Amino acid sequence: MFKIGCVKIANPFILAPMSGKTNLPFRLIIKKMGAALVHTEMISSEGLIRGQKKTLEYLESDPKERPVAVQLFGTDPESMAKSAQIVEQKGLDIVDLNMGCPAKKILKNGAGAALMRNSQRVADIVSSVRKNTKAPITVKIRSGWSPTEENYLHIARIIEDCGADAITIHPRYTKQGFSGKADWQIIKNIKDAVNIPVIGSGDVTDVHDAISMKDLTGCDGVMIGRETLRNPWIFKQILQVQGTGEPFYPGLHSWHELIIEHFSLLEKYFGEKRASNQIRGILLCYSKGLPKRKELRSLISEIDGKTSFLSLINSYFEQVSGGTLHED
Ligand SMILES: Cc1cc2nc3c(=O)[nH]c(=O)nc-3n(C[C@H](O)[C@H](O)[C@H](O)COP(=O)(O)O)c2cc1C
Repeated sequence: MFKIGCVKIANPFILAPMSGKTNLPFRLIIKKMGAALVHTEMISSEGLIRGQKKTLEYLESDPKERPVAVQLFGTDPESMAKSAQIVEQKGLDIVDLNMGCPAKKILKNGAGAALMRNSQRVADIVSSVRKNTKAPITVKIRSGWSPTEENYLHIARIIEDCGADAITIHPRYTKQGFSGKADWQIIKNIKDAVNIPVIGSGDVTDVHDAISMKDLTGCDGVMIGRETLRNPWIFKQILQVQGTGEPFYPGLHSWHELIIEHFSLLEKYFGEKRASNQIRGILLCYSKGLPKRKELRSLISEIDGKTSFLSLINSYFEQVSGGTLHED
């Protein structure tokens, strides 16, 4: 257990913020798997202040997913503080500030990872949010713009001095995007340099990686992103290995139930049409852990509503389990 401000984080394993992916239904699935903290996708601070319907939808939460960290992006210290107040007024747990996004459309406005090139702005944003909200604040950064502009220690110290409660580091340079390997030594360097909790993010693809990141760097939290899209069971697997030493492998029955539950949650929060569209992309990711992947992938394009989803998915699982559904 560790704490981010006053919020207790029951274990070190945390769902990363992922734009277009970590919506409420997915967060609920991951929470059930045992993640101690889940992150929303990044949300525009300006959009929140303007009260844009689509942006406000990102703040929808459910007691079952708590604690939740809401990630905000923007460049203006005052707007970042105002949007953090909106998050706080909604009663949500943690405000996470995005200073690591390498997407061009974010960088061109000076937001995301571009902020790391402007340390005064980093200080102004964190101080302004700190002054105007009581909610715990975390800041997610990268290693710097490029190897010649590596400034993560300088930025991490500013973030701590300005009153943030934890730092998340994805140790790649902005110019790298997602290429190359995450340099976990950088997670350790930050952990050694600051007194607030440090969360490491990058290239955790299985139970072994998750435990190694923690052991090698001494980080407080281990954030998992892309792997959760293929294998949402990863949190359960880590906790089980830590508990009993026995690895956990989901059987076909568990996968079947999970997929039906995921659709139901999408339908509950977004309606049948959006649920049907989204489940196609989700099944493409999940198919990586399932047998007869090609057959499953070819069925996906035929999903056009709840009825076709259920009939296709039920017949797929009947086929792969040899006519009757396996019990795990
Ligand atoms: C599809 C996708 C969307 C992402 N969106 C965000 C985001 O909104 N905010 C953020 O801070 N990081 C975002 N990230 C980065 C992840 O949070 C994480 O730091 C990165 O993927 C490295 O971890 P991983 O190797 O476990 O995926 C995104 C990554 C992916 C793959």
